[in-house]
Amino acid sequence: MENKKELLLKVEGLETHFPVKKGVFKRTVAHVRAVDGVDLEVYRGETLGVVGESGCGKTTLGKSILQLYRPTAGSVEYTFPEGKKDLRKLSHKDLDEARKKLQIVFQDPYSSLNPAFTIFGSFVDPLNKFGVKKKSKQQKLVGDLLEAVNLPRDYMSRYPNEFSGGQRQRIGIARALSVNPELIVCDEAVSALDVSIQAQVLKLLKKLQIERNLTYLFITHDLSVVEYVSDRIAVMYLGKIVELANTEELFKNTLHPYTRALLSAIPIADITKKRKRIPLQGDVPSPVNPPSGCPFHPRCPNCKEKCKVEKPLLTTYQIEKEEHFVACHFAMEFMHENKMSE
Ligand SMILES: Nc1ncnc2c1ncn2[C@@H]1O[C@H](COP(=O)(O)OP(=O)(O)OP(=O)(O)O)[C@@H](O)[C@H]1O
Ligand SMILES: [Mg+2]
Repeated sequence: MENKKELLLKVEGLETHFPVKKGVFKRTVAHVRAVDGVDLEVYRGETLGVVGESGCGKTTLGKSILQLYRPTAGSVEYTFPEGKKDLRKLSHKDLDEARKKLQIVFQDPYSSLNPAFTIFGSFVDPLNKFGVKKKSKQQKLVGDLLEAVNLPRDYMSRYPNEFSGGQRQRIGIARALSVNPELIVCDEAVSALDVSIQAQVLKLLKKLQIERNLTYLFITHDLSVVEYVSDRIAVMYLGKIVELANTEELFKNTLHPYTRALLSAIPIADITKKRKRIPLQGDVPSPVNPPSGCPFHPRCPNCKEKCKVEKPLLTTYQIEKEEHFVACHFAMEFMHENKMSE
């Protein structure tokens, strides 16, 4: 990451709640608090990893940032060349324009590629929107994009079912690149691929990031992947960020008991090193009715009375020059205890 940090995206107090409807009259009886008060800054050129167990709100956060889901509250301020604007306040027309800078790559690009269209055909729509309307120009650009993701140019005349999963994912990436975006949300972009193909696609994403000064919000439940790609990592639990720090710092000085449990589950290749496995007790509570106080308290091995009643705020700690955010009442105490027992 560059030394001089340029703020690209600032998310404040973001909430996205989905109504739960029941009965013949479809009355709203409750809300799923999928994203429940997220504050986040993303800098130009960085990869910010977002991790957490299934259902903690990662996809909803990504989609809410891009306004594919309309958030319930908060702001999503994006730095455009002409100045900062809250994406939530843009008109449909302005949002369409803004979306060229903001793209998303999903886990399964197959579902977003129309099987009846050739690969070229699936690029026509985004290219028309981007203002490239002449067929010869479109063909040149699609060829260039396929080459950028290490595929032969003439593959553009093939159909989606003629490609492997890894190739389709690269086509998905090429399509996201066709509008020349700045920020790409990668939502489990490599999770469906086997490990060797994963490594190829991750390398490709890194190469493209450097060549095109791209910024990634990299969503995954796979901690080894997120460690490999991220400059910083945000850990989500029940719609909230519970810890956020530089990748190395997060792995070295893990402060939140939830993050510690998650990280303890990563296998270590070096058999001389041991890591104590901290099991996560119970299931993730329902986001319809989140626990009082700290949302992690019912599963936390270090839970104290205060945790049951008082919500911990995401607070900055300065450890070894690195900024480290954590939402735990006892973060510092546990860290000292950890240091003593090392
Ligand atoms: N469109 C929707 N309508 C209602 N509830 C939703 C909707 N999308 C997601 N949810 C709920 O919001 C919560 C968060 O879901 P989300 O898909 O964001 O989680 P996730 O972290 O991406 O999970 P995974 O790792 O399984 O992809 C879940 O409880 C889910 O059931
Ligand atoms: Mg998801």
